This record gives sequence, C-alpha cells and structure tokens, in this order.
Amino acid sequence: MTARVIAVSNRKGGTSKTTTAVNLAAALGGHGARVLMVDLDSQGHAGLGFGICAAPKDTTVHDHFQDPATPLAAGIRRSAFANVDVLPANRSFAGVTTATPPLGLARALAPLAAAYDAIIIDTSPSADALLVSALAAADYVIVPTLLHHLAVDGVGQFARSYFRVAAGLNPRLRGLSLLPVQVDLRVTMQRETRARSPRASERDGCSPGSGQILPSPKRSNSNNP
Ligand SMILES: Nc1ncnc2c1ncn2[C@@H]1O[C@H](COP(=O)(O)OP(=O)(O)OP(=O)(O)O)[C@@H](O)[C@H]1O
Ligand SMILES: [Mg+2]
Repeated sequence: MTARVIAVSNRKGGTSKTTTAVNLAAALGGHGARVLMVDLDSQGHAGLGFGICAAPKDTTVHDHFQDPATPLAAGIRRSAFANVDVLPANRSFAGVTTATPPLGLARALAPLAAAYDAIIIDTSPSADALLVSALAAADYVIVPTLLHHLAVDGVGQFARSYFRVAAGLNPRLRGLSLLPVQVDLRVTMQRETRARSPRASERDGCSPGSGQILPSPKRSNSNNP
C-alpha cells in the first residue's frame, strides 16, 4: 500500500489547519490506518498535538530544506496515539538556505510511503517554497476555512498557488476540498458566506474530493444574528 498524501493548507492563518490535520491523523490512526503526520509548519504545533517536539539535534522535516539529501526516515517518531508517527518540525527553522527543487519533498517522502496508509502534511499560512513543496507532494488538499469574507479571500489566494502547482508540478492533485470550520450559523456573516457556496443547499459541509470553491461574498455590515 502506498500512502495517500493529504496536505492541510490555507493562506489565511488561524483557520484550524493544525487542528484539522491532528484530528484527521488521530481519527485515521484510531481506525487502524498507519499515519505519518508531517509537521511542515515551524511553529511545531502539529507535533505538539501528539506530544512530540524535536530537540536541537533531532532530524526534522525542515532539514530537507537545508540539505535535500537528509534521510527523513531518521526523524520519524512514534507517538502515544494508535498508529500515528510524527515527522516533527524544526521550531528554530530560519528559512530555506539551500536551493531545494520544488519536487524535492515529494521525492524525500516517497521512500516512506510504503510504510503508511496516509501521510498528512500540516502547512503554515505562508505562500512560500514549503507550501509549494507540500502541494507538489500531495494527492489531496484540504482547506479548512472560516465562514468569513476575509477567510474566503485567503482561500482565493491559496487557490492560485494550488492551481499553479496542479497545472504544472503535480498533475496527481485530485482537487481542493473546502472544509468549513468553527461554524456558527447564528452569525449573519457565516450564513451569507455559506449561502454563496455553490452546493450549500445540498449539504452542511464539504467532503474531501468535492473540489468546491466559495466565491467572494459581499461585505456585510453586521455580524449579528
Ligand atoms: N473547531 C474548532 N472550534 C473551536 N476552536 C477551534 C476549532 N479549531 C481550531 N480552534 C482553535 O482555533 C485556533 C487556531 O487553530 P489552529 O492552530 O488549528 O489554526 P491554524 O490554521 O493551524 O493556525 P496557523 O495559521 O497559525 O497555523 C486554536 O486556538 C484552536 O484551538
Ligand atoms: Mg497551524
């Protein structure tokens, strides 16, 4: 079995990317799937979600961006959660220092894929080389989003990165799946944003593989019910 690679991404910060990635990994692991959580955000919160934090000399996924020859298998740690391993972040990562090919991470993860059913990559909200690398390695992309016009604008920004990679580097990408999070439909802005979703009348959320993209809503003057 070769792992399916799922990136959890958005250009907007604080949209539950890490929460989604950690809970998805834990849920899949709980159902018996072998999962590798790759913490590509140097905040390191996905690792912390599983109680794992790399020490200064430990191998991290960020080492790939300083030396693409780093064998990432050396950094994999077993978590206390069923079937979930973690490839932690370098929380002191200062940025890409070596020219890394955009498909480098995909190639570095490929030897690990046989040992897992799913590889989940948590990304930061930056539109940087790490995000491009994650998209270039992914089969699926989940985009957690708040139902708010600024969050939808962030999805639009992210979609541009996504389609650039899907059209060039990674034709395996199967679609961009929006996942509304922290939903409270008592809030006018959220109801309006949701109503503008193309398939909002058909269901309450978006499922992986839907490829659904929310159009920009008009600005509302009130957030109140
Ligand atoms: N479904 C939820 N309900 C309530 N609070 C949530 C939910 N999901 C996430 N949060 C909270 O929202 C905050 C942001 O979540 P999280 O760190 O997952 O976002 P993020 O998109 O990964 O952020 P960043 O862009 O900084 O990486 C956290 O305080 C988290 O506990
Ligand atoms: Mg995060």
